[in-house]
Amino acid sequence: MVKVWVCENYAEVSRRAADVVAAQLSRKSDSVLGFATGSTPEGMYAELARDCREGRISFSHACTFNLDEYYPISPEAPCSYRRYMEENLFSLIDIDPANTHLPDGLAEDPAAEGKHYDAMIEAAGGIDLQVLGVGQNGHIGFNEPDDVLILGTHCTKLTHSTIAANSRFFASEDEVPKQAMTMGLGPIFGAEQIILLATGAEKAEPISHLLAGELRTDFPVTLLNLHNNVLLIADRAAMGE
Ligand code: F6R
Repeated sequence: MVKVWVCENYAEVSRRAADVVAAQLSRKSDSVLGFATGSTPEGMYAELARDCREGRISFSHACTFNLDEYYPISPEAPCSYRRYMEENLFSLIDIDPANTHLPDGLAEDPAAEGKHYDAMIEAAGGIDLQVLGVGQNGHIGFNEPDDVLILGTHCTKLTHSTIAANSRFFASEDEVPKQAMTMGLGPIFGAEQIILLATGAEKAEPISHLLAGELRTDFPVTLLNLHNNVLLIADRAAMGE
């Protein structure tokens, strides 16, 4: 069953999420961490950067795999998820850049890139702690609502809802890439522990389906009900209060 921590505000969600990551690093300094992008984890990354700067944690033995990257996109593009991770975390902590991984947004053969990404995660021993956000439409990573969901890392079309939601990071909706490379449900569910962060009333609908114990491919987040170590860290708005 999904465990839930309800927080008073975004700052508390961010701090408590950072505490889970910090505890994981103290337990196992060479942890394999699965990271998400988007607005929700920005505060958590700021807390982790501060913890690292002030010497409370170190990422020097850790390795990271991000959930997704737009496709096609260059890693240097202002809105790439590689750039987001560099700006929000990697350049602010003591991680070895060679140990940070995102799917290649310029892969010539996306199917081969998906296989390669999954093989790298497997070679690292799988993910110890996966951080997830949730889309307003219930997506996790870019596993969008659909009849059929996919196990491995793959290239996928973004739904109109996701393109519209993410257009706030771009000059206009037209500039949002229409596809992305995303971890499939296999590597996400292979994670030993998952923390799902949800803030704001726009997330109340997918969270309500999750907490009702539903299993729905039209709300992929609900499939987390099948994992035995999921912690939801949510503010009151996302809890529908
Ligand atoms: C991003 C990702 C997405 C986001 C989701 C929520 O790497 O995997 O599933 O977590 O779109 O985004 P925000 O936090 O911007 O609402």
